[in-house]
Amino acid sequence: MAFKQSEAKGLLGWFDSRFPLIETWNAHLAQYQAPKNFNFWYFFGSLAMLVLVNQILTGIWLTMNFNPSAEGAFASVEYIMRDVEWGWLIRYLHSTGASAFFVVVYLHMFRGLMYGSFKQPRELLWIIGMVIFLLLMAEAFMGYLLPWGQMSFWGAQVIINLFSSIPVIGEDLGVWIRGDFVVSGATLNRFFALHVIALPLAIVGVVFLHIVALHHVGSNNPDGIEIKDKLDAHGKPLDGIPFHPYYSVKDIMGVVGFLIVFSIVLFFAPEGGGYFLEGPNFEQANGLKTPAHIAPVWYMTPFYSVLRAVPHKFMGVVAMGAAIAILFVLPWLDKNPVKSIRYRSWINKLLLGLFVVAFVILGYLGTQPADPTPTLIARICTLYYFGYFLLMPLHSRWGKMKPVPERVTH
Ligand code: HEM
Repeated sequence: MAFKQSEAKGLLGWFDSRFPLIETWNAHLAQYQAPKNFNFWYFFGSLAMLVLVNQILTGIWLTMNFNPSAEGAFASVEYIMRDVEWGWLIRYLHSTGASAFFVVVYLHMFRGLMYGSFKQPRELLWIIGMVIFLLLMAEAFMGYLLPWGQMSFWGAQVIINLFSSIPVIGEDLGVWIRGDFVVSGATLNRFFALHVIALPLAIVGVVFLHIVALHHVGSNNPDGIEIKDKLDAHGKPLDGIPFHPYYSVKDIMGVVGFLIVFSIVLFFAPEGGGYFLEGPNFEQANGLKTPAHIAPVWYMTPFYSVLRAVPHKFMGVVAMGAAIAILFVLPWLDKNPVKSIRYRSWINKLLLGLFVVAFVILGYLGTQPADPTPTLIARICTLYYFGYFLLMPLHSRWGKMKPVPERVTH
């Protein structure tokens, strides 16, 4: 479905002689060679783009009726839910959409872990992805303060106080972030500005860089074989197919599947049983009444668990930061010559499986009160989390790898 520049006539010809339209279409869609063996796991990149667009569009419409002040925010969200036409749908598309975003992004990252997509030559692509992940966490954290419910307020209070535990500069840093000595309307105002303008702009910009880097090195695939290594007489990869129409159409299937699941959650359980919108957040923020149990939303809880697993507050903050930072250097920790889990040893498979189990347990425990037994389990899982990455230079080489085929398999 490639277009020839010389054949562009009329409006298209006029446009194309002033803007590289056909060249871009061909280079990035119609002639962009993608491996022909993409599976289910390769849906999540395009789905991440879909949920990003959903968040931006619904965010714009929410902003039209949202009042970013400590006095008006909570009531304006209730107004959107009850009085604004279709306001409930726009709000749930955004709040349930935030959880969907993290489901999609975690699966997208897990695919990278499974198929070694972070390994050479895709290290920078992975690092750019990690920058997106950090920006997304900041975006979600600031967004959660905006409805000015009890959990918005106390969650922000707890997390910003963590910065105050940093020696020497901590106290001043906390005041600088809040714009006040406690979380207040000033904090709400600045989080609103960052949530609706600064961070979305940054995220869209970095997603663009992500795609530029991806198209420069080319996609990995479930076999972890570089398709650029085997070319035909015309210099095209033997195992490549044009992205459009093959994957543009296939991705629509992923979109339909996603929308079915998303709609079921959206219309039947938009609060996700208290995991997507927590119970205390249906009560307006009250600085004089602390909720019995404060927990962030589920997508932050694995890291929150790491924080709580460490007895010393500041060291907990360091551990939480390190749990994310270590993912940036993943490309240099993995020494396995084989990329895809398909051809890695059973020990590699087992350790990755246990990592997923530890991560999910940490996530669950982060939603629960820090009683002694759960804290002990969280400590074991935290040790496993760090052990998995820090010992990766050793264990990634353990066991007998299977022979990697010459060409991709179906
Ligand atoms: C807004 C968030 C994101 C968007 C819109 C996005 C988009 C995409 C798209 C469209 C692709 C190509 C299709 C695919 O391979 O599934 C891709 C590939 C990739 N992304 Fe992302 N991504 C996001 C976040 C992340 C994050 C957080 C990471 C990891 C830290 C990441 C790492 C990667 C890697 C390594 C690839 C290449 C995978 C391969 O070729 O096997 N991305 N991304």
